[in-house]
Amino acid sequence: MIGSLSARISLVLPNTDFAPFRRAGTLIRASVLTMGLVGLLLAVTPGHLRAETDCLACHADKGLQDSAGHSVSVDAQKFGSSIHGVLKCGDCHADIKDYPHPDHIAQVECKTCHAEPSSQLAGSVHSSSKDHPCTSCHGDAHSIFPKTDARSAVYPLNIPRTCGACHGTEGMAKKHGLPSVYPLYMDSIHGFALSKEGLLVAANCQSCHGSHHILSHKDPQSPTYKANIPTTCGTCHAKINVDYQGGAHGKAIAAGNLKAPVCTDCHTAHAILQPTESAFRMQSTPICGSCHKDKLSTYRDTFHSQLGSLGGYVETARCWDCHGAHEILPASDPRSPIAKANLVATCSGCHKGANLSFVQYQPHANAHDRKLNPALYFVRLFMNLLLAGVLTFFVIHTILWLIRARVDQIKKKSAQGETNA
Ligand code: HEC
Ligand code: HEC
Ligand code: HEC
Ligand code: HEC
Ligand code: HEC
Ligand code: HEC
Ligand code: HEC
Ligand code: HEC
Ligand code: HEC
Ligand code: HEC
Ligand code: HEC
Repeated sequence: MIGSLSARISLVLPNTDFAPFRRAGTLIRASVLTMGLVGLLLAVTPGHLRAETDCLACHADKGLQDSAGHSVSVDAQKFGSSIHGVLKCGDCHADIKDYPHPDHIAQVECKTCHAEPSSQLAGSVHSSSKDHPCTSCHGDAHSIFPKTDARSAVYPLNIPRTCGACHGTEGMAKKHGLPSVYPLYMDSIHGFALSKEGLLVAANCQSCHGSHHILSHKDPQSPTYKANIPTTCGTCHAKINVDYQGGAHGKAIAAGNLKAPVCTDCHTAHAILQPTESAFRMQSTPICGSCHKDKLSTYRDTFHSQLGSLGGYVETARCWDCHGAHEILPASDPRSPIAKANLVATCSGCHKGANLSFVQYQPHANAHDRKLNPALYFVRLFMNLLLAGVLTFFVIHTILWLIRARVDQIKKKSAQGETNA
């Protein structure tokens, strides 16, 4: 401490090779050192404490403990390099001016200097200041760094671990009945990009939830409220959001139809997969089908689906290959890939040489619907009647044949008996 004080003095003095100056500097430094030592002795005796250096004279001692055996030591170097290193201990511990300390020491109030984050926190899901003191996210009160510093607990690469301490498999949030999202996130495309590739622009918890004003997804003000999700994801995935907003689903959401899907209905919020992965491609058809049940069941009847369900992953036509994924438009929209005029182009993506007659094939053929697919309906009816007719004919034929065979057998037996007699 005294060393650093004399070091500061030497900064004030001109740094020169001029001998008289150098000698004067040494002299001053020596006397500062002596004065400092005397001052320290005065300071630690009961009475009025003057500066933060006085506090550290005791608290920099790594072994210093209170009567209950808890450490009350402060890492002077870490504190000095932290964002609050410029402050005096008393700026935060405002009620400690003397030693021995008062019996009851007031809690440090971060809000005296940081009013805005404090009021935002007070209106959030983490409002209880007992369960969620500022230090629950910012870490050790004496080593807080700016959010742009890699040592900060809220530096983008460190945020998932900071939130995950409570929102993991064992954390406090679990006890409140909340799902454990940290492991899901870490295995997602965003978690992988952040933790394995160190990609600072990948989404971390804060990108989607905010930091101090975190709200439940049920609150219409929340960035995770269903109708707000496309905008939240769209801050980074801007082009996809524009496509989505122009499609049937985006328009339905904008019109207040919350039954339509947003990004997370198809991608999930925390377990987002790379869309080229077969795991994602396998699960997407049932996801579209969970809302479009009739289209799923008709799709299931077609060659495309049966090929896909032969087991394992097969590159066949899935819902979005024909409809697109984000700018999904009804058949009546001339820009839609399923509009009559565009079908040749849509199918020939996979069927080289597809022509107008090829695209007569109906991907959602519903043979049970006479009005929608009359030709198919009657073909199905005819085929069923034919099948029933053929089956009936063969059943009767077999029965008659069996009777005939039995009669022949009996006749043969009685003829044999007559010759033997
Ligand atoms: C003479 C040594 C000494 C000095 C100087 C000193 N402290 Fe302490 N401090 C202690 C000891 C020992 C404890 C353990 C509890 C106790 O005995 O009061 C302590 C405890 C504390 C605590 C924790 C109280 C608690 O119960 O959690 C704080 C905060 C604190 N000191 C701040 C300061 C500040 C700020 C200064 C300077 C203004 C300072 N101390 C100066 C020795 C000192
Ligand atoms: C930015 C504000 C801030 C500054 C500056 C600060 N402290 Fe603290 N200090 C805290 C907070 C917050 C706690 C946690 C306890 C609480 O909430 O009251 C704490 C706790 C302590 C404790 C109790 C033991 C512990 O580590 O939890 C001691 C001792 C202490 N501080 C000493 C000091 C000393 C000595 C200095 C100056 C070198 C200092 N503090 C500067 C905010 C600060
Ligand atoms: C639930 C976790 C959490 C809690 C609790 C929390 N913070 Fe933060 N804080 C963050 C995150 C995350 C950031 C980084 C924000 C960013 O990157 O823009 C941050 C950033 C900050 C900043 C930097 C300026 C800014 O807003 O970008 C200050 C100052 C701050 N917090 C103060 C506080 C104070 C004071 C409290 C207590 C009243 C507190 N924080 C409680 C998570 C938290
Ligand atoms: C006495 C006033 C004071 C108190 C009390 C105080 N701070 Fe600070 N804090 C500051 C100052 C000054 C800065 C530096 C601001 C700057 O450089 O932009 C700062 C900066 C910060 C930053 C970094 C902001 C950034 O740019 O990323 C965080 C985080 C922070 N404080 C959190 C806290 C927390 C948590 C507490 C309570 C434990 C607290 N502060 C208590 C004065 C204070
Ligand atoms: C100290 C533990 C702790 C930390 C750290 C923490 N949380 Fe929480 N969080 C909780 C608890 C406990 C709840 C439940 C609050 C309640 O219901 O009273 C909660 C609630 C939430 C909710 C609302 C859930 C709902 O729908 O009701 C979200 C979202 C959330 N936290 C996100 C975060 C994010 C993001 C971070 C990091 C920036 C974070 N939390 C850091 C403990 C924590
Ligand atoms: C890509 C955006 C995104 C990221 C990154 C993200 N979340 Fe979420 N989170 C959401 C959305 C959207 C919801 C709303 C519920 C839903 O759709 O599943 C949510 C819901 C939650 C909930 C409430 C669960 C519930 O059912 O009420 C918690 C807690 C939570 N997130 C914590 C976190 C934590 C902790 C992290 C970081 C490890 C994180 N989230 C990362 C978007 C995200
Ligand atoms: C803070 C910016 C940000 C936000 C917000 C964000 N993402 Fe991402 N996302 C990224 C980055 C960066 C990547 C690229 C990671 C990589 O390729 O390694 C990515 C990758 C993806 C991928 C994989 C795409 C591919 O081709 O690799 C999907 C799917 C995805 N995000 C969906 C979402 C959804 C859904 C949301 C909202 C719930 C969302 N993202 C919010 C930044 C963000
Ligand atoms: C109806 C389901 C659905 C919705 C809603 C949806 N997506 Fe997708 N998304 C998909 C499918 C399916 C793919 C794979 C497309 C492919 O491989 O051709 C995909 C692919 C992606 C990709 C990878 C890049 C690409 O274009 O292939 C990103 C990133 C992405 N989506 C983000 C988003 C975002 C952000 C939103 C919300 C604005 C969103 N998605 C809404 C189903 C959906
Ligand atoms: C969460 C439920 C949900 C999911 C998942 C979903 N959709 Fe939709 N979809 C809707 C709703 C609701 C509408 C009707 C919008 C309207 O009324 O304008 C719609 C409209 C459509 C339309 C336009 C037809 C029309 O009648 O306007 C097509 C095509 C479509 N969806 C295909 C898909 C495909 C392909 C997927 C999967 C990639 C999918 N949907 C996933 C709910 C869903
Ligand atoms: C091989 C291409 C193809 C596949 C795969 C496909 N569709 Fe279609 N879909 C079409 C065509 C063409 C139409 C328009 C003619 C019709 O209604 O049969 C259509 C019509 C629709 C409509 C009604 C659109 C409107 O404007 O009325 C919905 C909704 C739909 N499909 C959803 C799905 C879903 C969900 C899946 C996956 C389970 C799927 N489709 C798979 C080609 C396909
Ligand atoms: C993503 C690729 C893809 C798209 C797009 C696609 N199909 Fe297919 N389709 C296949 C595959 C793979 C098969 C099975 C292998 C084969 O026979 O070529 C198949 C088989 C078929 C079959 C039965 C076998 C045959 O070749 O005669 C018909 C009929 C068919 N598709 C019609 C269509 C029509 C009509 C469209 C446009 C509405 C379409 N497909 C779009 C991939 C696709």
